[in-house]
Amino acid sequence: MSYLTDKLRAPHREAQGEVTVPGQMFDEIVAANPARRTLLRNSFGLSILSVFGATSLAACGGDDDDPAPTNPGDGNGGGGTDPVGPDYSVKFQPLAGKITADTVTVPSGYVAEVLYSAGDKCLPDSIGYTGTPQSYPDTEKQAGGQHDGMHYYPLEGVDPNKGGLLVLNHENVDGATLDLSADAVRTNSSNVGVSVIEIVRSDDGKWSVNTNSRYNKRYTGNTTYNVGGPAAAKVGATVVGTLNNCASGPTPWGTYLTCEETTNNYWDDTQPEVGYGWVVEIDPYNPDSTAVKRTAMGRFDHENTAYMLDENNRVAFYMGDDGTPGCIYKFVPSKAYDPNNRANNMNLLDEGTLYAARFNEDGTGNWVELTVGKNNLTLNAIDPGNYTQTDPSQPPQPSIINFADQADVLINTKAAARVAGATLMDRPEWITVGLDKKVYCTLTNNSSRKRTHPANPRPNNSHGHIVSWTENNNSPLATSFQWELLLLAGQDEADGAADNVTGNINGDVFSSPDGIRVDPQGRLWVQTDAGTGSSTTSIFGNNSMYYIDQETGESKRFLVGPVGCEITGIAYTPDLTTFFINIQHPNGAWNTVRAGGGDARSATVVVRREDGLPVGA
Ligand code: FEO
Ligand code: CA
Ligand code: CA
Repeated sequence: MSYLTDKLRAPHREAQGEVTVPGQMFDEIVAANPARRTLLRNSFGLSILSVFGATSLAACGGDDDDPAPTNPGDGNGGGGTDPVGPDYSVKFQPLAGKITADTVTVPSGYVAEVLYSAGDKCLPDSIGYTGTPQSYPDTEKQAGGQHDGMHYYPLEGVDPNKGGLLVLNHENVDGATLDLSADAVRTNSSNVGVSVIEIVRSDDGKWSVNTNSRYNKRYTGNTTYNVGGPAAAKVGATVVGTLNNCASGPTPWGTYLTCEETTNNYWDDTQPEVGYGWVVEIDPYNPDSTAVKRTAMGRFDHENTAYMLDENNRVAFYMGDDGTPGCIYKFVPSKAYDPNNRANNMNLLDEGTLYAARFNEDGTGNWVELTVGKNNLTLNAIDPGNYTQTDPSQPPQPSIINFADQADVLINTKAAARVAGATLMDRPEWITVGLDKKVYCTLTNNSSRKRTHPANPRPNNSHGHIVSWTENNNSPLATSFQWELLLLAGQDEADGAADNVTGNINGDVFSSPDGIRVDPQGRLWVQTDAGTGSSTTSIFGNNSMYYIDQETGESKRFLVGPVGCEITGIAYTPDLTTFFINIQHPNGAWNTVRAGGGDARSATVVVRREDGLPVGA
């Protein structure tokens, strides 16, 4: 979570010591196994067919086995297995280190252009922030603040490289754009949640928001959500508000999962705590639909979701709990995804099995099932607490917790994972599934860790690390895996700093990995959320984005953000000529509109090349 969110949540923390692929559309699944191209392409086409109706078959690529990279509608990045496609191999000139400029810095030949800032028009009848702070209800119709996770969706009949839907999270408020003198609770609540915007690219390559689109919609802290899954009886049929919408992920059936990184409503404490901390499913193609909190996926400080599909359309969703410490989870729906009938998938996330990861010291791992009656999830269960944060010389401080039914397990997922023996990790942030089905998770930092473990090897881990694992048989249904560390972030060994702040990055160093995503060409990108004070920026520069070679761990600095920001959120057009990146909580002079400044706004930025070729290549 951002340091601003951390401040907001501080008064509400658990007494128990909490101190604190995106998923893969069609294109991200196929490259490692070209033989599956036809099957998956057909599956995706049929899925989108059921979104758009029968007339969209041609736009989805039909059953053509060799789509051109620009073939509209199927989400295919193209080229990876196409001998005549573009060259996506990474050749950009990495940026220098320690950049602290108050701008978005990109390699030579690239441009970074602001697309959608906090307060911008979203709904057709919105006013839009132009320098005068605004209040609810005007704020309910325009962009929220602190842009975070996002995903890009194709539209029927539209070349997806020239237009589509961008769905993005607003983790927190951009306070300088808000007038809290009237209706402060609803004004703050309107500035969080999700934006759905239709965006279009003009012939000169520039992108803009179509503010007249019927798809444009805000989901906010004032919106009413349905509740699905086993905990609905205890949570209630509906909940008012989503908030702390941090990262996110797509589903194979074209919905968007926005993830709540808080287990209470700190904007409106009249709302019961059990209403928050869930994954919320939004259908961006149906603005008239009601979003649903999917309780079967557990309640914790959710980061993103990333999914893995198998050849039988069984799917697993991986999720991290950005707690200090927190566990890594996966949810496996009971039924297969139905590529032929989208409606059959719309409640798939209400029934399934939730697991938490146990990383064994020998490099193996197990998924422990979080089902009432199993793995000690019973009445009078013993919760060991966040023992990693206490000195080994101190005795553990266990407590008793009752799991009477599955709703209890889901509402108290953090405790259930500890009871079941899952491993407490150094703040799991994003997870992504590679084209080879290797799974990566950023562990952003845990400066208060006292007890180490091979998967979290540094005490007082200020700079974080990245862990990866491979499921047995590369199956999303596996109950065991093999894991390894991709890298330890931190200072270069040559700096001679203390062990706990020294990393082993091969190449451009960074701190606090957060966003991570393997793109449709198998290229791994990492974004950072390190401290923004001079003690950190003097070593690493401003928060940044890197390409990481998955074999060698070599890091190349691709983008550096403006003063005070976190870099988060990554989406792209299928041909990868346009990347969308979020700049969260800048606090200098970048992207200000108010006379005298002081309102640097969070924004989605378009990153593209002046020559129109794929980003990164
Ligand atoms: Fe909102 Fe854990 O980052
Ligand atoms: Ca994050
Ligand atoms: Ca973070």
